[in-house]
Amino acid sequence: MYRMRVLNAAQVGSLVSMADAVDCVERAYRLYSDGQASLWPTIYHDFEAGRRDMDIKSGHMEGAGLFGLKVVSWVADNPLLRGLPALAGLVLVMSSERGVPLGIVDGMALTNLRTGAAGALGARTLARRDSRRALIAGAGAQGRAQLEGLVEVLPELKEVAVTSPDERMNGLYVEEMRSRFPRLLLSVAPWGALAEAVSEADVVVTCTPAREPFIDADWVRPGTHVNAIGADSKDKGELDEALAARASLFVDSRAQTLDHGEVRRAFERGLIGPDAVTEIGAVLLGRAAGRRSDDDVTLFDSTGMALQDIVTADLALRRAEERGVGVVVDM
Ligand SMILES: NC(=O)c1ccc[n+]([C@@H]2O[C@H](COP(=O)([O-])OP(=O)(O)OC[C@H]3O[C@@H](n4cnc5c(N)ncnc54)[C@H](O)[C@@H]3O)[C@@H](O)[C@H]2O)c1
Repeated sequence: MYRMRVLNAAQVGSLVSMADAVDCVERAYRLYSDGQASLWPTIYHDFEAGRRDMDIKSGHMEGAGLFGLKVVSWVADNPLLRGLPALAGLVLVMSSERGVPLGIVDGMALTNLRTGAAGALGARTLARRDSRRALIAGAGAQGRAQLEGLVEVLPELKEVAVTSPDERMNGLYVEEMRSRFPRLLLSVAPWGALAEAVSEADVVVTCTPAREPFIDADWVRPGTHVNAIGADSKDKGELDEALAARASLFVDSRAQTLDHGEVRRAFERGLIGPDAVTEIGAVLLGRAAGRRSDDDVTLFDSTGMALQDIVTADLALRRAEERGVGVVVDM
């Protein structure tokens, strides 16, 4: 009747580079802000608050003839107790013309790639071109993917500091990323000296599951770009609300970020109105301005859209077909 392909994490990694993922996510952002793609409400469930949860994100890209969903779970203890990644799941891509499934792709590899690519687009579109120093708050899977994304788009990036409350994770991060990016000067910024580390950075990336803000608005110097990646549900938040009131705000989806992104608290407390946020897709389409000056503080808030997964998974599946990679199932 029809054939469907299944790809594992290693296959995704060999078929799609970070540069490819940046192109895919840019396409998703443009289609979404152009009204050629839509998101359906996210389903989020805590099995055990702060330790085990899952979400289902889905959407339709009329402009690409695709729809699909991603289901991922997050289990905090997995790496230490079970030797498994904290995040696991699957992305299902379907044809909206024929209605048939096209393939199933590993959700962890895809999440890391497409979220790193989201951060890359935030930085490429909004950070100062001469940005040299980045601070990455979060030494986990996203901390790694976010650095991979920044390296792709910031030609002057030389110094990267990582920070998190977990010294062991910080040490492992620096060791691993030094061998992957030998031209960068990598160091650990002590969690206790966060104020100084933030004030020295041209680009700050937050990618932790924190539920209370840990970055004060006053620490962020003029000209800084901030990528807020970690807060992707109502209970999370990494940045002082005063920063949202002070910065030029850019988001992946206005509806999603005002509902459960980093800017949500500032919006709910009346510090900003809905028009204070601009979708990055509108900037990429040339319909809205980005950074206004070298002194502007820009903040990109990403909650993550299924469209990023669908379009990147579709590229992996098309390349896999050309190269005969993966397992094909006759349905
Ligand atoms: N925006 C998106 O599209 C998107 C995509 C993927 C993941 N995320 C989110 O990014 C966050 C990080 O995901 P990950 O896979 O890298 O997780 P991870 O478990 O691999 O790493 C988390 C890091 O945050 C630190 N951390 C944990 N609790 C903290 C706290 N309360 N305060 C400060 N630091 C803390 C840990 O020490 C670690 O360094 C999660 O909230 C996840 O849901 C967002």
